[in-house]
Amino acid sequence: MEQDVIKRARELLTPALVFHTEITVRRAYGIYVDGTDGKRYMDFSSGLATVNLGHCPERVVEAVKRQIDEIIHSGCIFYYPSIVGLAERLRRITPDGIDMFFFSNSGAEAVEGAVKLARYTTGRQGVIAFTGSFHGRTMGSISLTTSTSKYRKGYHPLLPSVFHAPYPYCYRCPMGQTRDECSMECFKYLERMLRHIISPEEVACIVIEPVLGEGGYVVPPEDYLVNLRRLCTEHGILFIADEVQTGFGRTGTWFACEHFRIKPDIITVAKAIAGGFPLSAVGASEEIMKGWSPGAHGTTFGGNPVSCAAACASIDTIEEEQLLENVQKVGRYAIERLMSLKKDHPFIGDVRGLGFMIGVEFVKEDGSPNPELLNTVIERCLEKGLILVECGREKNIIRFMPPLIAKHTDMERALNIFEEALG
Ligand SMILES: Cc1ncc(COP(=O)(O)O)c(C=O)c1O
Repeated sequence: MEQDVIKRARELLTPALVFHTEITVRRAYGIYVDGTDGKRYMDFSSGLATVNLGHCPERVVEAVKRQIDEIIHSGCIFYYPSIVGLAERLRRITPDGIDMFFFSNSGAEAVEGAVKLARYTTGRQGVIAFTGSFHGRTMGSISLTTSTSKYRKGYHPLLPSVFHAPYPYCYRCPMGQTRDECSMECFKYLERMLRHIISPEEVACIVIEPVLGEGGYVVPPEDYLVNLRRLCTEHGILFIADEVQTGFGRTGTWFACEHFRIKPDIITVAKAIAGGFPLSAVGASEEIMKGWSPGAHGTTFGGNPVSCAAACASIDTIEEEQLLENVQKVGRYAIERLMSLKKDHPFIGDVRGLGFMIGVEFVKEDGSPNPELLNTVIERCLEKGLILVECGREKNIIRFMPPLIAKHTDMERALNIFEEALG
């Protein structure tokens, strides 16, 4: 049966689409998935940071069933309550100044929408993104994505007037500095770009992941983001926080921007917004949104009633079950334990993260990336019933991103498996 599904998939699905494991799943619930191989796995990938409440969460399933009985689709022909209920909730939980929303279906679509909004309302064309970041795979969003050149290969020319500054990845400083010596050369590089490559008054927006996701689970220094916010304000450049992966409690706060006390002008959200249903949003202040004329952007499926109902139930569950507190507490325990593993295992070069967005970087003796060892560890974890996935350009960083419902005992079990796999 399992082999049959995989065999049929290989015949029918494009090889461009890569699956992370060879498991076929017949049922997924909470932090677990049941394989057709008869094994139960702990899913610490959360469907790529998406099922933040675990698989098939009861309240989301109930809300979806109720919604399906009433309205499945509108296509912006008529209004319906779930889209407004969701916008009200988002206005409450997103950073101050984010008041109005445009709903779409995927993270890439939200990023494209945000860039369109910035270009349209500022009348400027320039876009600055960061080397190492991931913003999606559509032609517009891939023009910003540089987590690896492989994703861009074969698709040039991409969107013009998109420029890249180095992401502040301190463990492997793109400017060759060390943490103690650094005087934020990466920020100075960005300032130089504005003197040599594009004038600030031509830049519509700067798009940044407040914690780098696909590119390596990198937490930037707070100073960097604060300076970036200041620079944007000074030049009338819109600060776009891509919170597609970091949002909805992943880092222990609703949005990662809160850790750095910065307020973006525009926010993009997707992934975990609707408990696994496809939905994304662009959020901005009323002032910015009111500059987007009627018909300047649109969608058929965006803000689907069922996805919106799922999103409302997800947000209510995170609040009522105090899952942010759980992530902070259990996340702290995980980082402490991983840090102590690092002391005993020289091939763990770095442990970093916030909440349940934790990266463990594997290195060789000379400090270079060690994807081979990472592969062995991931395979051993899978054999022992723990699903983990990697990230980073060299695929040498394991990401721990369990659902927010993972308790201390779940994390302890996962880390026990990980520790055994290291052995
Ligand atoms: C930060 C970020 N932005 C955008 C995207 C693209 O999202 P999607 O795959 O839903 O298009 C991703 C996906 O991993 C992401 O992590």
